[in-house]
This record gives sequence, C-alpha cells and structure tokens, in this order.
Amino acid sequence: MWGGRSRPPDPVHLGKAIQGKAGEGARPTHPNSSSMKPVEYHQGQFIVSTDPARLDLDVIHEFLTHCYWAKGIPREVVARSIENSLCFGLFDAAQQVGFARVISDYATFAYLGDVFILEGYRGRGLANFLMQCIMQHPELQGLRRWTLATRDAHGIYARFGFTPLSRADRFMEIHHPDVYGAARS
Ligand SMILES: CC(C)(COP(=O)(O)OP(=O)(O)OC[C@H]1O[C@@H](n2cnc3c(N)ncnc32)[C@H](O)[C@@H]1OP(=O)(O)O)[C@@H](O)C(=O)NCCC(=O)NCCS
Repeated sequence: MWGGRSRPPDPVHLGKAIQGKAGEGARPTHPNSSSMKPVEYHQGQFIVSTDPARLDLDVIHEFLTHCYWAKGIPREVVARSIENSLCFGLFDAAQQVGFARVISDYATFAYLGDVFILEGYRGRGLANFLMQCIMQHPELQGLRRWTLATRDAHGIYARFGFTPLSRADRFMEIHHPDVYGAARS
C-alpha cells in the first residue's frame, strides 16, 4: 500500500554483499541492522539511506532532545538506540533533514519510532517518501505486526495501513515518561 505520491524506485544496495558461511547464500540467516547491506532510495534531490555511517548524531539528538516524546534524552542514549535499530536517514545532499528508526526481529514484528522531518523541510511530501522507503525495505516484509505511537500524526501512517489498536485490551506497556528527567506528554 502506498501513499498518493509515486512509488520510489527500487532500492540501490550499497557496499559489499554480506558473506555467509561456505555453502550458505549471501543473506545471513538472522540479519541485524549492523550486518545488513545499506539501501538507498532517491526522490529528486532527496535521498533516504539506511547506511549508519551517513547519520548525523548531532542533528538527530538535537531534534529528539527537544521533541514531545523524548524530551531531555541524552546523546549517548540516542547513539545506543541508533546502534541497535535499522535507521533511515533522509538527506538533502549531505545534510540530514529527516530520520526514522525501526526496531525489529526481521521475522515477525517491527516497531517504528523517532520519525521526524526538520521544520524547514516539512509539507513537501518527505515524510511520505520516508514511509514508503521504510515499508518497502527488503528485510521488513511479511511481518505479522507493526506498531508505533503518535500523538497527532495518525494520518501519515494510516495511508500505509496503520490503524488504531483493534484490541487495545490485549496490549500492555511499561512506560517511564520521566526517565530522562524532563516531563513530557
Ligand atoms: C509529522 C511530520 C514527520 C510530517 O512530515 P512532513 O514531511 O511535513 O509530511 P508530508 O509532507 O510527507 O505529509 C504527508 C501527508 O501527511 C499529512 N500530514 C503532515 N503532518 C501531519 C500531521 N502532523 N498529522 C496528520 N497528517 C499530517 C500531510 O498533510 C500530507 O498529506 P497529503 O499527502 O494528503 O497532503 C513532521 O511534521 C514532523 O517531523 N513533525 C514533528 C515530529 C513528529 O511529530 N513526528 C511524528 C511522530 S509520530
């Protein structure tokens, strides 16, 4: 399912193919974000890349530590979260202007979080482009469930098939909103 805009081109795989053990295919049995081949997608001047080396930690931390869901998050926590996620950076040339990350077992489940587009780049369809790239990533196909949490951006995700929890009574959570020492909603 895609948004109203055109589907992005097939991803460009970067870097060397992942080497399996002798006799195995090139794809690891249990991929994780650090062993995966980075993938790149283009839309006009903008690039979405899953290459962790391209990410700008300063930009990501600066946004997240001021946003409503992660206010006060320390830089080293952002860095650790990036290391352990499949991250999608959005770039205007070399400048990072957007971000999202996926936490997944690459088999059954994925959680989408920390989605943002820098203010000067909003309203141009870039969140839509980022979401298209995430939802077509080759390691995120055929999952049983995706989840996310949002205060007010439901419309963006709805067009990619996300719905309110159909059985909210079956979900539970542990939530520590003050874990970074700053109150948030
Ligand atoms: C929410 C956010 C990512 C949207 O980025 P964007 O690049 O401006 O979004 P797009 O231009 O791709 O808009 C895609 C569609 O979603 C709609 N949309 C944009 N922001 C929206 C919002 N907050 N709620 C609902 N719909 C929204 C747009 O109208 C557009 O619809 P259209 O295609 O019918 O015109 C951006 O405003 C942002 O970073 N906000 C601050 C962080 C945030 O709230 N992130 C989401 C956390 S869950």
